Amino acid sequence: MTTAAPEPKANMGQPVPRYEARLKVTGEARFGADFPLNNPAYAFLVTSAIAKGRIESIDLAAARAVPGVLEILTQDNTTELKPIKFSPGGGGASTSMQSLGPEIAHDGQIVAMVLADTYEAAREAAYKVRVRYAAAMPSATFGSAGTTEEDATKVSERHKEVPQAGDAEAALASAAVTIDAEYGTPTQHHNPLELFTTTCVWSDGQLTIYEPSQFVYGLKNSVAQKLGIEPDRVRVISPYVGGAFGARGQMTPRTALVALAAKKLNRPVKLVPTRDQGFTIATYRAETRHRIRLGAGRDGKLVGYSHEGWEITSRPDPYVVAGVNESAHLYGFGAVKTHVNIVHADRNTPGFMRSPPVVPYIFALETAMDELAVKLGMDPVELRRVNDTMTDPIKGKPYSSRSLMPCYDAAAQAFGWSRRDAQVGAMRAGDWLVGWGCATAVYPTHIGTATARVRLLPNGEVRVQTAAHEIGNGVYTVLAQMAAERLGVPLSSVHVEVGDSTLPPAPVAGGSNTTASTCSAVLKACDAIRAKLLRAASTANDGPLAGRSPAELRLTDGRAVAGDGSEEKLGDILKRLGAGAIEEYAEFLPPGIKPEAIQSLYAGRGALTGGPSGDKLMYALGAEFVEVRIHERTREIRVPRMVGAFAAGRIMNPRTTRSQYMGGMIWGVSSALHEATEIDETRARYVNDNFADYLVPVNADIDQLEVILIPEEDSDVNPAGVKGLGELANVGTAAAISNAVYHATGRRIRQLPIRVENLL
Ligand code: MOS
Repeated sequence: MTTAAPEPKANMGQPVPRYEARLKVTGEARFGADFPLNNPAYAFLVTSAIAKGRIESIDLAAARAVPGVLEILTQDNTTELKPIKFSPGGGGASTSMQSLGPEIAHDGQIVAMVLADTYEAAREAAYKVRVRYAAAMPSATFGSAGTTEEDATKVSERHKEVPQAGDAEAALASAAVTIDAEYGTPTQHHNPLELFTTTCVWSDGQLTIYEPSQFVYGLKNSVAQKLGIEPDRVRVISPYVGGAFGARGQMTPRTALVALAAKKLNRPVKLVPTRDQGFTIATYRAETRHRIRLGAGRDGKLVGYSHEGWEITSRPDPYVVAGVNESAHLYGFGAVKTHVNIVHADRNTPGFMRSPPVVPYIFALETAMDELAVKLGMDPVELRRVNDTMTDPIKGKPYSSRSLMPCYDAAAQAFGWSRRDAQVGAMRAGDWLVGWGCATAVYPTHIGTATARVRLLPNGEVRVQTAAHEIGNGVYTVLAQMAAERLGVPLSSVHVEVGDSTLPPAPVAGGSNTTASTCSAVLKACDAIRAKLLRAASTANDGPLAGRSPAELRLTDGRAVAGDGSEEKLGDILKRLGAGAIEEYAEFLPPGIKPEAIQSLYAGRGALTGGPSGDKLMYALGAEFVEVRIHERTREIRVPRMVGAFAAGRIMNPRTTRSQYMGGMIWGVSSALHEATEIDETRARYVNDNFADYLVPVNADIDQLEVILIPEEDSDVNPAGVKGLGELANVGTAAAISNAVYHATGRRIRQLPIRVENLL
């Protein structure tokens, strides 16, 4: 009788260091602008000095006279570029405003691109391009004259169905305790460290694009469409991305311009835009406004929730995040009423930015929840407990798993929440007022169609190929872990290739879907190899494992092993198969997704599913606790302590996970206290478009930061059991901080960021 061999040492779930860490810290990792080129030309952008109006004339004489200038692209010599539709998500165009003129639709719109032998010559000439504008008065933001408002459901593909349940007006009217308040969040820019570079090289009619990208297949197909050529002629290479945060999931207008320039010059062209140009040639998180009404009984049980949101977008494009799609499922609300309005202004089109739907909407809701707790005289953790639910208040669907209260309990314990004096202003430390606050973090679990190719070589090496994107998410690392575990080889034997549109396609690296989607595809390819190996070993006429059933064999340490210890090396099994190597290509389709999705993915369209959309609600959740200290006289605000506990299904790698959660919470501090793009309201222009004036936290702003991983199993979300987590932890931080500020000072700040001047 034989028994099954022990499970191989699990590579998944181990805190292995980041696969590319050494390359990154030694500078060996090649980012988009780092690839060696043969005789490149350099591009420099000229961007609009007005936000609204027309170009009357462009005088290029002085620019052309700069030595080394090769060509200047303007509206007059770029007409072969095809306009393509605005298409948020799924790899389309980030904006419909793609022309260089004569209409000017936002400040900083690209109006010309200078090409020269050197970067310095291109820049000098760009400054000498004389553009005469006929300027009109632009509408900058909320409250500006000339903005227009519309119902998001009428114009947005993303927000067709409005979450509603019961009669919220009646429930709110008869509730024992109610909250009715307005909240706001500012414009923010992603500011990835790596600038919005593009390098294009043509060779034999084939275009190669080096550009930091969250969706190489999307970029490839959209650029081909823009240029009017077959997608097969375009290759996008993006092995490392120096920050993305949603700014690189779609095609921005610069890419096709660089491609066109390289074609005209018959020379590689490299564009490295400046930091301030990045504020207007790509996307940003738009400012939002909210009115929230909550109604509850004296016991804290919610009976009604109404959330009305307003979001700024550009004049032509109906971009909207519509976070009520998520917030409406968070608690057992009773009756729910939601509405989202788009407000069009003369701005560049906004886009996805780190946890896009939930960040502003959950800030508003979680601050309102704290206000309700105060009004009820109830502990804010207990208010969440009373309203915790395993069932969707909108459609009655169950959660696939939900560990909100285990997160609250673990984080509260670690934080020492029970020692909190609920009385406002009661806690002090010397000259500092101390405030403790908490809030919920939530992020929809997304999953997308993905493909992968895995190859096992006779020497036991494994190559994993999928066009996923290393945006800091650790995808190299987790894919290596997945393959190592499934094929029973050491992690060091696995080589992962991502970020190249000649590899099998993977979805956009957005919505925190990458690990779940691409691990599922790699798992499938590995299991096909595994099945072949075990069959070959067990059905052999001779050999150490002949006659065993595949079910009793395990793959471990580069061998197939039976329960009694007999074993055969993978290389020997490959020989038995007569194969030099085994290669498997796999296509992973999430449940409910039609097979046509594979063709769409190859065509650069990758829709994600999950969150509230399936038979079960799929969400990752967490709880965050913060301590703030506010100086009694100067009102300086510090955050000496934060604790976050998070549950996101199976954790592939606690080290990369912890790093994502820490980064998220730090970003939350940024949103709460530092970050805002200031807008000149008369010119509809970003004022602080540089790293000196755009405030983000530095090391000295972050003190103790504790992350707790709450174990959670969920077999419904996907075969890998993985919920996305990259975008979870910065949701809720800002509300926790604003709630703590209230606890310290009695000031309820409903508009982010919270600055010294708000507390004077
Ligand atoms: Mo994220 S905004 O989904 O890159």
